[in-house]
This record gives sequence, structure tokens and C-alpha cells, in this order.
Amino acid sequence: MSQVRVEFADGGYDVLIEAGLIDRAGPLIAPYARRRIAIVSEDRVWEIWGARLSDTLRGVGIEPLPVIIPAGEGSKSWEMLGQLLERLLALGIERGDRIIAFGGGMIGDLAGLAASLLKRGCGLIQIPTTMLAQVDSSVGGKTAVNMAAGKNLAGAFHQPSLVLIDPALLTTLPPRELTAGYAEVVKYGLIDDADFFVWCEYNGAALLAGDQAAQLHAIETSVRAKARIVGADERETKGQRALLNFGHSFAHALEAEAGYSGALLHGEAVAAGMSLAMRLSVAEGLCPDEDAMRVAGHLRVMGLPTTIPGQNPERLLAHMRQDKKNRNGCIHLILSRGIGGTFQTDTISEQQLLIFLGQECAYS
Ligand code: NAD
Ligand code: GLY
Repeated sequence: MSQVRVEFADGGYDVLIEAGLIDRAGPLIAPYARRRIAIVSEDRVWEIWGARLSDTLRGVGIEPLPVIIPAGEGSKSWEMLGQLLERLLALGIERGDRIIAFGGGMIGDLAGLAASLLKRGCGLIQIPTTMLAQVDSSVGGKTAVNMAAGKNLAGAFHQPSLVLIDPALLTTLPPRELTAGYAEVVKYGLIDDADFFVWCEYNGAALLAGDQAAQLHAIETSVRAKARIVGADERETKGQRALLNFGHSFAHALEAEAGYSGALLHGEAVAAGMSLAMRLSVAEGLCPDEDAMRVAGHLRVMGLPTTIPGQNPERLLAHMRQDKKNRNGCIHLILSRGIGGTFQTDTISEQQLLIFLGQECAYS
């Protein structure tokens, strides 16, 4: 079993990674749990994996209390958050209890926010079930729901006490979801690890075909990178953590335009967003064209979108004005000096951005 420690000045937690870990979740969770534990999950995940998690908990004398909500990004809403809190209160969850988030990033973000609010904050254990959640969202403590004004605009930082990652759970993940999650894997190479991007170029196809050794390597490398970055900048106040948002300013705008529907998955939007960020970097004379082409080429071959034909530039820009990274009315972007060389800037004017988006939207 691999163990990655996420360390903060005032504490930290372990991320445990191993194929088959789901069946040992009970003993691993026992030190963190009381006699009963609420499990927030969604219908699709619960139907496939719920019995396995319940059995291992019962095996150590912990009664599982499932709270199941409908699958899909549409459930990451203010309304569902309220309903979830009422259901957790009805179960008599106490402040000293921990809640298990058992699902993909949607469940992790929603249950995490509920845990941060319930009785002014109770504990959280993340058991991520998608590639995206295993390499990114389950670690680092960002929680949120989507608002009409945009993606993830109401949320909190609420770190889990423990994260259990079992790549075997990915065997039932629909291929399109696996591919979308892979975009966040590639992101770590692009942020500051050019060697890992090369690894992705060589091993991405095997990973998506279900090669568990490749999946384990990608998950471990991603979690170590994420732990390092959030450990240095837990609340995105010092700079490093914003780099994890590479491609996301564009991605969140594209997701808002798609109405947070299955038409465009988060990871797909991130793939298109990272391709746009690379090309904007080239257009600004910051990044070699060859690097942008190499990134888009790899993402495209893996089955991810890299262009945005037919989108409306003004509407995308309007969404980007809502981005949480913006300061003093300036759009804050993560750009690149080349693969592995991301940096932050607020020097790109809205007019430059609009011209760039206009060209991208016209491209087919
Ligand atoms: P998701 O949670 O909606 O899951 C995707 C689909 O896979 C769903 O249909 C779900 O039912 C299904 N599924 C999940 N696990 C399965 C399994 N093991 N077997 C079969 N089906 C399974 O989507 P996601 O891509 O995991 O997460 C996207 C969300 O994560 C977005 O809301 C995004 O904003 C958020 N996110 C948060 C962070 C963070 O740091 N908090 C980082 C990245 C993304
Ligand atoms: N996924 C972005 C972050 O955790 O900061």
C-alpha cells in the first residue's frame, strides 16, 4: 500500500492507495469512526459498490448510514446541499462524527461542503470512485456547489481526515469518464513536471485501456504532486495552488455554457481549457508553438476535446469575469512557458482575451 502524507502547519492526513482497498476500508476507518457512520453517495456508485463498503464497516462493528442522492453534476447544487444537511441532521449526526464521501468529484465536493457546515463542521473521509476524484478532487479540501452565476462559487476549504484510494473501483467507470479524469492527470505534467508529461505520452493509452500498474503510477504521481502543492499553499493565498487551476478558467466557462450537463464533462472541459491556455501562451509569445501542438496532440489522441468551435466569445468572457482567481477586476490566468512551466498572470486584457477567443471559436 502507498501512503502519501498531506502536511499542513496545524496537522495533516494520510492518503492510502492500493488496489482492493475497498474491502479493508472498515479497519482503516475504525480509528476515525464511532458506532455509526453516515456515507454520502450517489445512486450509480452505491448500486455497484455500496454493499462492499457496508460489509467491511459492519465487519468492524460500525453501522453504515447511507444517504444516497441522484448521480450527476446537477446534484452539486445549493438545493441538494440543503436537502443533504436535513437528511444528515435527521440521522442525528454529531459534530464529533465523520461523514464518508463515497463517489466522484460531485459527491466529494457536495458531501465535503455539507461536512464543513453541519453543526459548524464535522469530520470527513474521502473514498473517491472516479479517476478525476482519485487524482485530484479528494485531496486538498476544496468543497463547493455550483451557483447560477457559475461553477463552484459557494464553497469552503474543509480537509478530510483520511483519503482511501482504490484503483479497482475504476473498473466499473464508463470509458468516457475515465478519459475525462485522465485530463487532470496530464495537468500535473503540464504544471511543473515535464518528465511526467512524457510518461503520459508513452503510457496514457495503456492507462485508459485499464492497465492497473499504469493507473497506480498515475494516481500516486498525481496525489504526490497535489499533496506537495496544497501543503505549500492550503488556501490558495500564496500562489502555488492556483497552478492546479491550469486550463480551468476556460473550462469553467465552457461548463457553464453547457449548463453543467453531461454534454461536456469537467475533465473534457479541462482538456479543452488546457489546450486554449497553451495556445494563448503561444499567441502572447510566451511558449513554443511546438509545445502547444504536442499537448493538444496527446489530448486529442486520448479522445479529449482540444478546440471550441461554435462557442460564443462574449459569453465565454462573461463567465470568465466570475472566476474566483480574479483580483481588482482583472482576469487572472494560468499560462505556460512550455510543458512543465506554468505561471500566473493578470496582464492579459479583456480585449486581448476576446480577440483570442474569437479566433478559437471561429476555428473548426
Ligand atoms: P462525478 O462525480 O459526477 O462522476 C462521474 C460519473 O461517474 C457519474 O455518472 C457517476 O455516477 C459515475 N461513477 C462514479 N464512480 C463510478 C464507479 N466507480 N463506477 C461506475 N460509475 C461511477 O464526476 P467527476 O468527474 O468525478 O467529478 C467532477 C466534479 O469534481 C466537478 O463538479 C468538479 O468541479 C469537481 N472537482 C473538484 C475538485 C476539487 O479540488 N474539489 C477538483 C477537480 C474537480
Ligand atoms: N483542483 C484544484 C485545487 O484543488 O486547487
